[in-house]
Amino acid sequence: MRLSLLALLSLASSVFSLPTEPHAGPPPARQQQAERRGEGGWGPAVQDPGTIVSLIPVRGADAALYAWTREGQDWEKLKRIVFVIHGKGRDPWNYLNHTTTALQDAIAAGQPVTDDEVGIWAPSFWNNQDGGAWPWDEATQQPTSNLLVWSGNEWQDGGNSIYPSGLNLSSFEVLDNVVSFFSNRAIFPNVDSITFSSHSMGSQLLQKYAFLGDIPQGIPSLRFAIGNLGAFTYFDDQRPSNVGGAEPVEQCGDYNDYRFGLNNVDSTIEYGSPTPNRELLLERFKSRTFHLLLSQNDDGPGNLQCAAKTQGDSHRTRGAAWWEYMNGPMGGWPANHTLDWIPDCTHDDLCVFRSAQAQVRLFLNDSMQQPSFMPNGPVNNLWSAGSVQWARGANATQAMPTGTTLSTAALQTYIPSSTTSGASGNATQAGGRQQTNGQVSSTNAAGATATTAMQTLVLGAAMVGAGLLLV
Ligand SMILES: *[C@@H]1O[C@H](CO)[C@@H](O)[C@H](O)[C@H]1NC(C)=O
Ligand SMILES: *[C@@H]1O[C@H](CO)[C@@H](O)[C@H](O)[C@H]1NC(C)=O
Ligand SMILES: *[C@@H]1O[C@H](CO)[C@@H](O)[C@H](O)[C@H]1NC(C)=O
Ligand SMILES: *[C@@H]1O[C@H](CO)[C@@H](O)[C@H](O)[C@H]1NC(C)=O
Ligand SMILES: *[C@@H]1O[C@H](CO)[C@@H](O)[C@H](O)[C@H]1NC(C)=O
Ligand SMILES: *[C@@H]1O[C@H](CO)[C@@H](O)[C@H](O)[C@H]1NC(C)=O
Repeated sequence: MRLSLLALLSLASSVFSLPTEPHAGPPPARQQQAERRGEGGWGPAVQDPGTIVSLIPVRGADAALYAWTREGQDWEKLKRIVFVIHGKGRDPWNYLNHTTTALQDAIAAGQPVTDDEVGIWAPSFWNNQDGGAWPWDEATQQPTSNLLVWSGNEWQDGGNSIYPSGLNLSSFEVLDNVVSFFSNRAIFPNVDSITFSSHSMGSQLLQKYAFLGDIPQGIPSLRFAIGNLGAFTYFDDQRPSNVGGAEPVEQCGDYNDYRFGLNNVDSTIEYGSPTPNRELLLERFKSRTFHLLLSQNDDGPGNLQCAAKTQGDSHRTRGAAWWEYMNGPMGGWPANHTLDWIPDCTHDDLCVFRSAQAQVRLFLNDSMQQPSFMPNGPVNNLWSAGSVQWARGANATQAMPTGTTLSTAALQTYIPSSTTSGASGNATQAGGRQQTNGQVSSTNAAGATATTAMQTLVLGAAMVGAGLLLV
């Protein structure tokens, strides 16, 4: 369902209306959204209690990535950021809720982490089925905000945005801007590490970004902690031939085409062209801090395309085969990478995030990281580790990337005019820092006057969030 401009006004008020009482289960509006998925899209992205919209600026003021974060945090106190991307369902409310739940578990379990030092941002890579979540003008047939929108699942492999029109922003460039945002000392003076996390489809984006990304070098360190991918991107044309139910490469001529391999990557995505050759990409990947989380019981088949099936027959066999691939043909499991086999979980992001292993990867600082957790060995007893044979298809290296240099994107120091919007209009609760006209100012007033001022600020931010800012 597309929204008219008139409906946008009610969208603005419904997105930012004061929540009444904590609800049991999804609120009715959320339930309706879920039911309408695939039948014309979402309704407004209804706020959960205790959350605010925090738009992440991309290419300066040109575009914004929609995201939620927790309400009432002082951003000056944040030491670590967990940026947690949804799966195929584009449901940032669940990812913020589940990651916050995992943080509460970690604190309750006595892990060395405090609530006020961890910021959690859950973005949404909206797509063209989500009209309503990002506002649309029926009369002009154009979006009325600068929120980023992709076509289908193209965000998962670095594909270009379709809105804002004409910008053609790769989801990889968006991630570069996310690194810049959290590296900005004017907004986050004490952040020392950023964790890019996800489960399932968002992990597929992040696995690629970990070697295709020209990631800016910020002051904070960057780590990846990703779970249960539907399929991996391989560095060359070898695939497992005798384990994990992997189908023969002969049955799938394009098994090494991007995004399952690197063939045709330059003709598929514009970002980073010419893409560095596989030796350089591998070198870059090994230099990054990468934590892979695999559920011991994730037998789901995941991606059903034949190219995915040449990697194994389930999330966990594909993950185990990938470990073999890195450990064998790719020269050894990299020094700064870990693999955790998460006990008693299936394809369930909440279960994975709440595990003791994921708590360490997501929330603890760099010096508290632990070795891999592999109680049943690196391939989880699926087969005898090291016994994999590797197969190559006939035409599988015809269009591999050939670039000869690695580049690094520049850090953006853009300070947005508004990055946060409170859902409650309570200045004390909103806390944190607000940016106004390029200047950083603290929101610390209290009382009736402050509430009025805050509501004005919230309305202004709501207009950005709800898309009333014409671009
Ligand atoms: C997560 O959502 C559930 C169900 O709506 C709710 O009971 C719980 O309080 C939420 N947890 C957090 C941390 O927001
Ligand atoms: C990491 O966390 C531990 C436990 O809280 C703390 O002792 C240590 O000083 C921290 N290290 C850094 C570099 O902040
Ligand atoms: C963006 O993509 C569209 C459609 O492919 C194309 O017409 C346009 O020239 C592109 N714009 C830029 C700035 O690359
Ligand atoms: C290899 O051949 C298959 C058809 O058998 C085709 O689908 C695929 O795109 C080809 N790959 C390259 C890189 O030419
Ligand atoms: C591992 O990470 C440390 C700390 O960031 C870094 O100094 C070291 O070079 C990395 N090792 C490799 C092999 O990249
Ligand atoms: C605002 O937040 C403070 C601190 O959490 C709370 O004590 C107060 O009741 C809130 N006021 C309103 C009007 O919600």
